[in-house]
Amino acid sequence: MQQYVTMKIDGATIRAVKGSSVLDVAVECGICIPHLCHVPNLSDIGACRLCIVENVVDGRSKITTSCTLNVQEGMEILSNTERIRNLRRNIAELLVAEAPNSRAIQDIAVRCGVKEVRYPFRNNDCVLCGRCVRVCEEIWQARAIGFVGRGKDRHVDLPFGVRPDFCKKCDSCIDLCPMTITPCDGPMKPGEEYLCGKCESQLSMASGAMEDSCVWCELGKGFGCARYV
Ligand code: SF4
Ligand code: SF4
Ligand code: FES
Repeated sequence: MQQYVTMKIDGATIRAVKGSSVLDVAVECGICIPHLCHVPNLSDIGACRLCIVENVVDGRSKITTSCTLNVQEGMEILSNTERIRNLRRNIAELLVAEAPNSRAIQDIAVRCGVKEVRYPFRNNDCVLCGRCVRVCEEIWQARAIGFVGRGKDRHVDLPFGVRPDFCKKCDSCIDLCPMTITPCDGPMKPGEEYLCGKCESQLSMASGAMEDSCVWCELGKGFGCARYV
């Protein structure tokens, strides 16, 4: 039998299933905590840190990722304080700098209030969110891709760079990758490091967007965000 806890998110009293993550409960209740590496029904690894919240215990708040934090009786969570918004905006800005041609990441960045990127573009084709690796291992039990290397050399690869026979060719790894969801092929060449307007990128339209407003992000659709139910 399911057990429940009573807790608060942003002042709202919520009855949540014991064992759920704070992020899952928030999204289910229509409280959009921006997130990137989380995928429903897959394990959480806390990689992107976008889903940070304040967990208030005995009057003191601790910042933690909500996807890796389970609900508890009497818990008090703040997901939208100025402190959180500032930190989250910076995290989103760094993600855009890492992979400026991802529309999905631009969407999230707009939702987090990013209007410009102060960091040099790195033009990477992977942000190490691990969505592909986890779906391959946990849904398909294939382990056909995985993380290799450490530090700045860490990346996702096939065993010895070759697609193995046990790959199910399901394409789930591609479907869940934020780099392939509505990709942008912007001209990210050295010396031309700007967000192109070719696809009317969300970020280039950010001046009119309101922080915290739903921007119907591409990843939101993938997550089954409450807005799409
Ligand atoms: S296509 Fe292959 S590598 Fe990708 S998720 Fe499916 S089994 Fe894994
Ligand atoms: S390849 Fe895509 S899904 Fe996989 S870790 Fe990199 S950004 Fe994430
Ligand atoms: S969604 Fe929680 S750390 Fe990425």
